[in-house]
Amino acid sequence: MSISLDVLRALPKAEIHVHLEGTFEPAVLERWARQAGVALPRPRERLLDFTGLADFLEFLDWACGLASTADRAAELARSFCERLARDGTGYADLIINPTHWSAWHGRLRALFDALEAGFREAEQDGLPGVGLCVSLLRTQTPDEAAELVDNLIAWRHPRVVALSVDGNEATAGRTGPRFADAFRRAAGAGLRRTVHAGESSGPDGVWDAVDLLGADRVDHGVRAIEDAALVDTLVRRGIALGICPSSNLALKVYPSLAAHPIDALRRAGVRVSINTDDPSLLGTSLPREYGLCAEHFDWDGEVVRSLARNSIEASFANPEAKDGMLRALVAWRAGSSPRPSVA
Ligand code: ADE
Ligand code: ZN
Repeated sequence: MSISLDVLRALPKAEIHVHLEGTFEPAVLERWARQAGVALPRPRERLLDFTGLADFLEFLDWACGLASTADRAAELARSFCERLARDGTGYADLIINPTHWSAWHGRLRALFDALEAGFREAEQDGLPGVGLCVSLLRTQTPDEAAELVDNLIAWRHPRVVALSVDGNEATAGRTGPRFADAFRRAAGAGLRRTVHAGESSGPDGVWDAVDLLGADRVDHGVRAIEDAALVDTLVRRGIALGICPSSNLALKVYPSLAAHPIDALRRAGVRVSINTDDPSLLGTSLPREYGLCAEHFDWDGEVVRSLARNSIEASFANPEAKDGMLRALVAWRAGSSPRPSVA
């Protein structure tokens, strides 16, 4: 059914698959590039036309390279929280991949502190909360993975909730075994685990995520649909998928929503959630993603509510924050006032 963006903004929900690297506003990037005397990687009118994941990841290196000061990092963190508030998102698990941030190589702790200043100021102003999922890149070595996990364990930064891995499995090949030890140690230190798989890999990548990396959640995971035994495993273990429909179209995983398996996975009993991945660079928002899917798959309000519930329950938010969002979700109405009162 068609549900208005206002009603979807009022839907209590969490976002569990979104990258800080994907939240640069194009106008901000252009300004920072001009100030630094750096050329755009291609003409302005085609700046955000990506040919696929590899091209997109290169663009992230360029964009993050411009965020070279603590003020810029804090501004990005604060703007992200403002985006959450605008979209009616109560909490986000936010992925950051240090490999993209060239100006901060060797100074990761300082980058965390700069971001923390932005998140803390936002929270003090009543904006939604954020947990950081610190990500390895698929093409990194086991030693690099060990070093990152050593640092995360030593620092115990209160903002960091999880270890993640993203990047391109198509160029990296099968890397589950390479990162198994890092993920095991992160788990032992109390960090949660979220793994990009089943986007640039097939079902084999998702199997590795659940069997070798102990993933609490799989980011994307959509190509699990190609393996019935894997779908059954995801259902039985209650492993949620952080699905990003428009990203999968923009980065050419599927040609259209008609070919996208989100509804088939949902019907099979998988805990699917809706997310944006890289909202500014892909030109979308969380309410828009819910709206596109509700319209295309003819979901009613109860289906939409169940997906929002999955997003909250599968998030790494603290129990009180989850409880508040879940109570508000009960009061949400798909067909009535856009701002339901919360008991
Ligand atoms: N980093 C940012 N977006 C990504 C995606 N869709 N897949 C892998 N790595 C990413
Ligand atoms: Zn992603």
